[in-house]
Amino acid sequence: MLTIEHLRKEYKSLVAVNDLSFTLEPGDIFGFIGPNGAGKTTTIRTIATLLTPTAGTCFVDGIDVVRFPEEVRSIIGYMPDSFGVYDDVKVWEYLDFFAAAYKVPREGRPQIINDVLELTDLTVKRDSYVEELSRGMKQRLCLAKTLVHDPKLLLLDEPASGLDPRARVELKELLKELRNMGKTILVSSHILPELADFCNKIGIIEKGNLLLFGDVQEILGKINGGRGLEVRLASADDAPKALDVLRGIPGISEVNDDGALLHVTFDHAVTAQAAILKALVNADCNVESCAETKLDLEDLFMNVTEGAVQ
Ligand SMILES: Nc1ncnc2c1ncn2[C@@H]1O[C@H](COP(=O)(O)OP(=O)(O)OP(=O)(O)O)[C@@H](O)[C@H]1O
Ligand SMILES: [Mg+2]
Repeated sequence: MLTIEHLRKEYKSLVAVNDLSFTLEPGDIFGFIGPNGAGKTTTIRTIATLLTPTAGTCFVDGIDVVRFPEEVRSIIGYMPDSFGVYDDVKVWEYLDFFAAAYKVPREGRPQIINDVLELTDLTVKRDSYVEELSRGMKQRLCLAKTLVHDPKLLLLDEPASGLDPRARVELKELLKELRNMGKTILVSSHILPELADFCNKIGIIEKGNLLLFGDVQEILGKINGGRGLEVRLASADDAPKALDVLRGIPGISEVNDDGALLHVTFDHAVTAQAAILKALVNADCNVESCAETKLDLEDLFMNVTEGAVQ
């Protein structure tokens, strides 16, 4: 659905995007993550045919964005990171305007407008003026606008920025609905954990370079290596005995103790959590609690990026 090949974009002496390549399959939900100034918007605007690359190119559904921009525009829905100013325009007029611009036949437009309003939960605002909407509603309207021509690929540039926590959750639900409708979605954000639970692919970009790209589960597996377990003993006195037992179990790569709290890293392909607990109990260690440590996506992001701004 999307192929990016050695994409490069320079603004005078600044290289905003450097040798970027990746591919999205139909139905992929791709989280494009990076700090301020990383090159996300530049990349998205290039795919959306609004910027000409310095080198390299992109293909949307096999169509070259540089050579056939008109064809590409009909199959993409681009949601920019800022909402334009629209005075004296009602919500339905705004959508009708974009539907007309995308050459949706006049007779089909009322139904499509109703459908996208329904989908974005804006039906009650159909006859309101755009400037009267709250920020979150404007964001949803902007998303509704990108859907009027039923595009195959959605390019959403920070759709969640400026939204309150509830609105973020609602937006996520909406994106899940679009995923279920079979759309391919590229969504950018600064925040990795916000995207990881509904994206199947992620990419991390910094200073124009793609540092990491791939399947979310695979990346998490690779980074974490094994799984972690936190075992709390009833007393720190049991810790030496427990450490001895744990170090003798195959599949456990690391054990650290912090008083009565033990941090255990193990490969779940080799040993099971239950077997670890059983070994401790059999050795007469009093285990008070035991919990798997959560994968920390925030840590991953901080490890991969340097936080440097160009
Ligand atoms: N029109 C422009 N002229 C010159 N430099 C630009 C222009 N647009 C962007 N840049 C520079 O290109 C780099 C990448 O910017 P871009 O907007 O793509 O980043 P971004 O990842 O979208 O950041 P943010 O998270 O802040 O939106 C930045 O260093 C920025 O200053
Ligand atoms: Mg941006």
